[in-house]
Amino acid sequence: MGLFDLFRRTRSADPAPRSAATTASETTQDTTPETTQTTTPRSTMSTLTIIGAGNMTRGIATRALAAGHTVQILARDAEAAAALAAELSGDVTTGPVDAPIAGDVVVLALPYGAALEVAGQLGQALAGKVVVDITNPVDFATFDTLVVPAGTSAAEEIAKAAPEAKVVKGFNTTFAGTLVSGEVAGQPLDVLVAGDDDAAKAEVIALADSAGMRGVDAGPLRRAQQLEAVGFLHMTLQGTLGNTWSTGVKVLGA
Ligand SMILES: NC(=O)c1ccc[n+]([C@@H]2O[C@H](COP(=O)([O-])OP(=O)(O)OC[C@H]3O[C@@H](n4cnc5c(N)ncnc54)[C@H](OP(=O)(O)O)[C@@H]3O)[C@@H](O)[C@H]2O)c1
Repeated sequence: MGLFDLFRRTRSADPAPRSAATTASETTQDTTPETTQTTTPRSTMSTLTIIGAGNMTRGIATRALAAGHTVQILARDAEAAAALAAELSGDVTTGPVDAPIAGDVVVLALPYGAALEVAGQLGQALAGKVVVDITNPVDFATFDTLVVPAGTSAAEEIAKAAPEAKVVKGFNTTFAGTLVSGEVAGQPLDVLVAGDDDAAKAEVIALADSAGMRGVDAGPLRRAQQLEAVGFLHMTLQGTLGNTWSTGVKVLGA
């Protein structure tokens, strides 16, 4: 059985637990240091909007609710959104994808192609919003490469589709099931975050921190190219590591 078969089999078995919530400016050169670890930023966000009602929505919503945030789930499948909301503990509302966006931070919890499409369709509704791209744009036909060409990333393409949004890459290296608890092997998840708008990036880092994880500034949005490679690698490693989809990518020693 190949890796892709393993992946498909695991996906069809739904790797994310179905349990209820556990608790409530760029240069083209890479020669200069580009990251500054934000020091325990406070999240100013009150409502998080998540578009999609799948596994990652479950994970990220669970963490945000545990941190005391309000969550708005917008999905094309109203029944799926309502069913998910009913399982979560906390202040959750649902609506269609084109409903008014309540959150200042919007997570696109969609496959890459859909995220790109929805980002373009929502257009002005995303202006000024922090838009979090969590996608791993894997070529699922081969499970051997990404569908974005070298030199760009899903996040950078989504930023082009929604030029007035402040696009941040994050959560693509954390598996959905692990987000439900926010930890792996007793260690808080690292949420690696990249973006060109410092305030937007700090907000996503603060969201992760407030939800019991560790947000880590991974640099400008172009670092999404590397984050997406890491996310893809983490997926392919499941074939070696027992196909549990319960592992975490973490930087130790800092
Ligand atoms: N699962 C993970 O562990 C994990 C980890 C890191 C990153 N990610 C990334 O997170 C994203 C979401 O993954 P997931 O596991 O949550 O996927 P999922 O469980 O399959 O959920 C995907 C959601 O997107 C919706 N959707 C699909 N196409 C759409 C469209 N054209 N318009 C509107 N909604 C659409 C689906 O709605 P329907 O049910 O109506 O199809 C569903 O609600 C993906 O980009 C993935 O690469 C996943």
